[in-house]
Amino acid sequence: SQINWFPGHMHKARKEIAEVMSEIDLVIEVLDARLPRSSENPLVNQLRKGKPVLKILNKQDLADPQITEEWLAHFNSQEGVRAIALDASQQKLVKRLPEICKQMIPTRAKAERPVRAMIMGIPNVGKSTLLNAILGRKLAKVGNEPAVTRQQKRYTVQGGLALSDTPGILWPKIEDPDSGYRLAASGAIKDTAIEHELVATFAARFMLDHYADNLRARYRLTDLPEIADDLLDVIGRKRGCLRPGGVVDRHKASEILINEMRAGTLGRISFETLTEWQQKDEAARLA
Ligand code: G4P
Repeated sequence: SQINWFPGHMHKARKEIAEVMSEIDLVIEVLDARLPRSSENPLVNQLRKGKPVLKILNKQDLADPQITEEWLAHFNSQEGVRAIALDASQQKLVKRLPEICKQMIPTRAKAERPVRAMIMGIPNVGKSTLLNAILGRKLAKVGNEPAVTRQQKRYTVQGGLALSDTPGILWPKIEDPDSGYRLAASGAIKDTAIEHELVATFAARFMLDHYADNLRARYRLTDLPEIADDLLDVIGRKRGCLRPGGVVDRHKASEILINEMRAGTLGRISFETLTEWQQKDEAARLA
């Protein structure tokens, strides 16, 4: 099944992002460290016009540390890009963000006034959490409206950084069905958008292929089934999700697997590696 977020808003979003870009010195782009590419919106890169971007791979506490390191090295090798991984609990690093932003701006521009920045990212990557942490106060959670908000923009100055009080809400670019499933499995796309049990089947397949030991440890299994749906049955039985007649309640088993993946109970999981994407990009280039 296909996920199609905010169709028809592309033109409007393009215009709004371009407008915002003309007002700010740099973009703070929040990505999900578990899926840095699938949680990206390419319009940021297309429309930044030489403006620097600080990519924050957020929720690093949930991601596979080694894979995160590879993504960071990749982004940090790009022109005008600086990338760091963090999670909301790392107060020390969060407090350094204004300083990091200032370092990214040409000296001439920053001498005269605070550096203007806006946080951008897809829903649920942690934009509000980060904004509150930087500004050291609790702002109201903004609704997940498509594209950059039209509200009157206000900037709050903190340590020489003028940060827009409203984050820019983008939508993910779903380049292929796997990106959609990754977004769903991570919780970026909520359960209404895509069928729960399909996501769980994807998640089960993914875990069997990449994190088999995590499954064994969590569900106390010595042998793992080969088929994804069989794994859901095994989990359902282990957790007593049975319907009358002893049939496994697949829906409940699906919920358990997805919730435990999202919460980090199954360990630190990354949904995509740099190498996979480089191969995919190379294949697309040759096609
Ligand atoms: P948004 O503004 O980009 O939409 O995201 P928001 O800050 O609301 O964060 C979405 C959820 O992600 C929140 O969970 C938040 O606590 C969690 N979150 C944010 N940053 C981090 C992080 O670095 N690590 C982890 N583990 N979680 C983080 P929530 O309030 O429970 O919301 P939900 O579960 O209903 O989505």
